[in-house]
Amino acid sequence: MACDPKNIIVTGGAGFIGSNFVHWVVDNQPDVHVVVLDALTYAGNRENLAGIPDDRMEFVHGDICDAELVDRLFADADACVHFAAESHNDNSISNPEPFIRTNVEGTYQLLEAARKHGVRFHHISTDEVYGDLALDDPARFTEETPYCPSSPYSSSKASSDMLVRAWHRTYGVPVTISNCSNNYGPRQHIEKFIPRQVTNILCGIKPKLYGDGLNVRDWIHTEDHSSAVWKILTEGALGETYLIGADGEKNNIDVLRAILAAMGKDADDFEWVRDRPGHDRRYAIDSSKLRRELGWQPKHTDFAEGLQDTIDWYASNEDWWSGEKDAIEAKYAAQGQ
Ligand code: NAD
Ligand code: TYD
Repeated sequence: MACDPKNIIVTGGAGFIGSNFVHWVVDNQPDVHVVVLDALTYAGNRENLAGIPDDRMEFVHGDICDAELVDRLFADADACVHFAAESHNDNSISNPEPFIRTNVEGTYQLLEAARKHGVRFHHISTDEVYGDLALDDPARFTEETPYCPSSPYSSSKASSDMLVRAWHRTYGVPVTISNCSNNYGPRQHIEKFIPRQVTNILCGIKPKLYGDGLNVRDWIHTEDHSSAVWKILTEGALGETYLIGADGEKNNIDVLRAILAAMGKDADDFEWVRDRPGHDRRYAIDSSKLRRELGWQPKHTDFAEGLQDTIDWYASNEDWWSGEKDAIEAKYAAQGQ
């Protein structure tokens, strides 16, 4: 069962979680060579991989829907960790098309190449495939929770999960799947909740809170996501799904107030804006299977500390995000958000 890959393809390795994973592999797995396959959409940034030596990583600018390219890369790989996706719910509501193309068709093309070349395939997914929980429900998501996605984004991810399961059962492709909760940390695109609010404050714009602010997300530091993915890739049982989470449930207003306090602002110094249509109420992960069967533990258990590091990263890396800020805020403003 154990897998000891030396040449891995990381799709979406120039995005937020993918780039953090590539840095984690380069720092922690000295014998592993990484090929990043990334289309550099608005969410991808070659700078996210700066500083990685050429003998550890090759960057391929390309699309996961390009069957010929994917086939060529898989011919020389032992494993693929598949992060590439359209990842933002609000974008999926205004224009679902790229979500179906990249998340569903792109995953299909990768699975076909994995099947042809016998490549070990780890699929990165989200807890959002399970829909949502009520605020007063003591339950958390487990690997047995029925799929019930709410948005074009989460339904496209649920579709990709189903393809991965089918390619394992029908063709015997050696797969694993992980469904993780909301990530935070450096290099997250400023369209997402935490970086949007931090960069708003840095720009003198008021943070924006959707609906009643009571929606709950289960936050995990992206470095903990990376270590869990490596564990599952190398020690996970084929065909299995593992939920990844770090017991980080918090509602949005509490997270926003923690950001405001850390940045020296008044607790009420924000604006209420239009709610997201179909807005999932609460996500919560029970990751006991991963902890029990593979012995994984998160390192970043102090959210306030991880949040402060994240705020500091955005404050010290304005060049990374400032060029896009006006356009992102204009797009949100046009949606009443
Ligand atoms: P992101 O939007 O920051 O990055 C996505 C990356 O994929 C970008 O580099 C982009 O250029 C690339 N990409 C998009 N379409 C592509 C295509 N057709 N071909 C090649 N590359 C393409 O996303 P993220 O937040 O880092 O999420 C990564 C993965 O993790 C996704 O699969 C997402 O569903 C999953 N996930 C995210 C979270 C979260 O909190 N962000 C939580 C759980 C799971
Ligand atoms: P987001 O980062 O988009 O992640 P997801 O939709 O995958 O959970 O949003 C996290 C939460 O924050 C979600 O409940 C929506 C809310 N939100 C705001 O209140 N204001 C904002 O400006 C954004 C972008 C999100």
